[in-house]
Amino acid sequence: MLETIRWDGDAVALIDQRYLPFKEDYLSCRNAEAVAAAITDMVVRGAPAIGVTAAFGIALGLKQSGKKDAESLRQSMESLSTLMAGTRPTAVNLFWAIDRMKKRFEELISSGVEAVLAGMEREAVSIQTEDIEINRRMGAHGAELVPDGARILTHCNAGALATAGYGTALGVMRAAVEAGKKIEVFADETRPFLQGARLTAWELVQDNIPVTLITDNMAGHFMALGEIDMVITGSDRIASNGDVCNKIGTYSVAVLAKEHGLPFYAVAPTSTFDLSITSGKEIPIEERSPEEVTHIQGVRIAPEGVRIRNPAFDVTPSRLVTAIVCENGVAQAPYNESLRALAKSHQAA
Ligand code: MRU
Repeated sequence: MLETIRWDGDAVALIDQRYLPFKEDYLSCRNAEAVAAAITDMVVRGAPAIGVTAAFGIALGLKQSGKKDAESLRQSMESLSTLMAGTRPTAVNLFWAIDRMKKRFEELISSGVEAVLAGMEREAVSIQTEDIEINRRMGAHGAELVPDGARILTHCNAGALATAGYGTALGVMRAAVEAGKKIEVFADETRPFLQGARLTAWELVQDNIPVTLITDNMAGHFMALGEIDMVITGSDRIASNGDVCNKIGTYSVAVLAKEHGLPFYAVAPTSTFDLSITSGKEIPIEERSPEEVTHIQGVRIAPEGVRIRNPAFDVTPSRLVTAIVCENGVAQAPYNESLRALAKSHQAA
């Protein structure tokens, strides 16, 4: 299986997603600052993947801090957490992973510095391996929703590259194929960063899963022609009312799906649930650099002087969401109840 994130003990190696599918290079991040920059600069991206990477960044930073006593190690932990939390604002998995590392730190601190360093490394590795297992569980739940012969539209990349491996939305597609179903995928190219064209298309071609690449503005056309049966995406943060935040353009796809009577499914682990917020309105939406819009692969396509907006995510209101698939099952409206029940069954497990 493709290794999105590799822990080398003294570095975090990341497949550099900025250059896929043209170059399969790993960038070795040798300190916490380099790990944080890799998240901000989209060397690694995708909600679960940035959580795993931040956890390794903290473990690495602590190891290199040279601190010999509990109090100064705690100060390092604080500043590393702040560094990682400042990388990207929207995907809650990042903050979930940081909180989990902080909690583990507090459990370990009374056992001495060596125990903390080893334990924090183990915790980051657990977050990584659990993510793959969770994706497989989501795949199994989600595959039951996919009819044989389904033609599935997806947006952005919610695959192995966006996670520790296997993927969320693409995990469901992989599981459907493993269950013997024939499927066809339509991948939106996903302007401006082209996660669909560069990453989703690449993953599916490698897996021999039939995939057709379309530009984002073609989705409605193919739905109207009856060539799409369902939509499956990932998510970066899900509010307690079931509002789904995901890559910019997901909302438009969900509106189109509703108009054409097609189911819209979001696939995300419970670490993507943010039950502290009541609706998607409270989710901070990252605005990225104007160059992502004015340029494609380094080539300018817009005039100098034009104003640019570049929100990286949007919110799909829960009324457009047919169901949310997580590792503990499938949630449907009313989401205020179903999401809480599934998140709890996670804690009990
Ligand atoms: O800006 P990105 O590429 O990090 O955005 C990624 C997405 O929007 C994905 O759909 C989401 O993180 C789910 S990935 C399993």
